[in-house]
Amino acid sequence: MDMVELIAKKRRGESHTPEELRGMIRSYVSGDIPDYQMAAWMMAVCFQGMAPEETGALTEAMWHSGAVVDLSDLPGVKVDKHSTGGVGDTTTLVVAPLVAACGGKVAKMSGRGLGHTGGTLDKLESIPGVSVCVDIPRFKAIVREIGLCVIGQTEDLVPADKRMYALRDVTATVDSIPLIASSIMSKKLAAGSDAIVLDVKTGSGAFMQDLDSARSLARTMVETGRHVGRETVAIITDMNQPLGMAVGNALEVREAVAVLSGKVPEEDPLYQVCMLLGTHMLLLGKVAKDEAEARQKLQQALRSGAGLAKLQAMVCALGGAPGCLEDVDALCKTRLQVPVTLEKGGYIAAMEAARIGAAAQMLGAGRAKKTDIIDPAVGLVMHKRRGDFLPAGEPFATLYANDTARLQEAVETLRGALTLSAEPPEAAPMVYDVIQAGEA
Ligand code: URA
Ligand code: CA
Repeated sequence: MDMVELIAKKRRGESHTPEELRGMIRSYVSGDIPDYQMAAWMMAVCFQGMAPEETGALTEAMWHSGAVVDLSDLPGVKVDKHSTGGVGDTTTLVVAPLVAACGGKVAKMSGRGLGHTGGTLDKLESIPGVSVCVDIPRFKAIVREIGLCVIGQTEDLVPADKRMYALRDVTATVDSIPLIASSIMSKKLAAGSDAIVLDVKTGSGAFMQDLDSARSLARTMVETGRHVGRETVAIITDMNQPLGMAVGNALEVREAVAVLSGKVPEEDPLYQVCMLLGTHMLLLGKVAKDEAEARQKLQQALRSGAGLAKLQAMVCALGGAPGCLEDVDALCKTRLQVPVTLEKGGYIAAMEAARIGAAAQMLGAGRAKKTDIIDPAVGLVMHKRRGDFLPAGEPFATLYANDTARLQEAVETLRGALTLSAEPPEAAPMVYDVIQAGEA
């Protein structure tokens, strides 16, 4: 393996063969290729891109770089769901239980929050007793018994991505569609589900800030799924404001429980995105024959309380107390609850999700670095959405804090996240597109 030649080849904009990519990943994981060569190659990819077959071959090589989960002995079509990361994005806690209540099988490995984005694992562990560190046999037993389980990614899954991602973070090479697509898809494939529904976020609070790049990432991942024989659908959704109203771990559990209890109206963006994700999960899982039937099943699971019961069952299987979701308010008790206002009124023309996520992080809801300890109860709840009129002096959000150290900074950050205008802004869609295999 002449890595110098491979770097030069990519720098010239030529394509690699699958054998070259397999050899490169194998040698990188074994330590024969040093980080500086990998970093140089990834920088060349940032400039030159990769052909779809190359991205597919890179994904396959990464997928098989470590342990893989075998779910084939579980009955039914196992469907995974993944979001590229957002603020107030509580969809997994709503949609996985609803899909399970409809007869789908969800065996999902999630991540922890980092930076301004939250992580499903941290949200689940804000419930007393819950631990997402369970082994694979137990994980599969829970899926078999109740139809869903969400756990942390095991240590030995896709070691190539662990090292490449850490390297990308410090070499300004995160921002490349083939590298993002192979990073996400290799982990999804190694986690063993038969089909994958992706929620690709676009907007100020997302990786992909503009719609064209989000669409391009979505297409690349859907094509990569097709390339390896795993049916994949991507929806492109808005991240120009938080998806839900709550940002923070227990606060987001409380919001998920509110949706599953039918307390959130159908126009609610979180409700809408959950229904759309759930619809495609039921279709890929062969639990519904068309969109209308899928929606009707999901609505029934919500109305009957079957979805909430599934979430409670999973929480119990992971160590939570029976009935613990009946009093989620108790999880959100903080020493301080601080309303946040603006001196001037106006229409909310823009709401920067990244800054809102950053404000919650300052209060202790998120991590600046992996080893930071989070406070499960803190965060914030928005009272207004983009397009709403905000009267002068009326609270647009409430901060939940236990400590005053960075409270003022969080207040100022949150205020800075809003842009007001005299006229109402143009309405923006919540869902931009659905990308399926074979679409041009
Ligand atoms: N999420 C991932 O897992 N990988 C990326 O490269 C970007 C987002
Ligand atoms: Ca489409």
